[in-house]
Amino acid sequence: MRSHPGGEAHTRRMLELAALPAGASVLDMGAGAGDTLALLRALGYDARGIDLAPRSETVEEGDLLRTPYPDASFDAVLSECAFFVSGDQPGALREARRVLKLGGRLLLSDVFFEEPAPLLKAADFEIESEEDLSPLWRDYFLEALWRDEPLCCRIPKGKCSYRLLIGRKV
Ligand SMILES: C[S@@+](CC[C@H](N)C(=O)[O-])C[C@H]1O[C@@H](n2cnc3c(N)ncnc32)[C@H](O)[C@@H]1O
Repeated sequence: MRSHPGGEAHTRRMLELAALPAGASVLDMGAGAGDTLALLRALGYDARGIDLAPRSETVEEGDLLRTPYPDASFDAVLSECAFFVSGDQPGALREARRVLKLGGRLLLSDVFFEEPAPLLKAADFEIESEEDLSPLWRDYFLEALWRDEPLCCRIPKGKCSYRLLIGRKV
């Protein structure tokens, strides 16, 4: 099963929207099996990935809410379907902000139970692009249910959406 809605095509869409400079340093927060990390490296980015339960030797073990990286150490932070799973989306955004350089970019795709704009604003991110990918999220869940695969997280009841956001640390 793909570990985030839309798979690699979705990752490439985020990268297209963000248009990061060649060789940019990128941290994948909640990197899982390292598929996106491998793609980032293949595209020439200086990428690292961290996950609480890494499923590849290329991904470092650690908590995305308290990463070991110094302040302002990355040009970009990317995260796919992991901030919500961490149980503390605002905390994850604060940690992303801390490790980003000023003007650094946030490439985020995640589940939201509220409008993302105030959450990002509270963490001092300016939103540059936003796309609603909720249909992909529904397909992802239906596919998991159909194949009797474990779902990536427990989803509380309520109206949720799945958004792709490109932000800038201001
Ligand atoms: C749905 S998976 C997505 C994995 C990957 N981003 C992808 O798209 O293939 C969510 C990931 O978030 C990780 N995760 C959840 N809470 C975390 C935390 N506090 N710190 C680091 N990783 C965490 C999980 O271990 C899991 O690998």
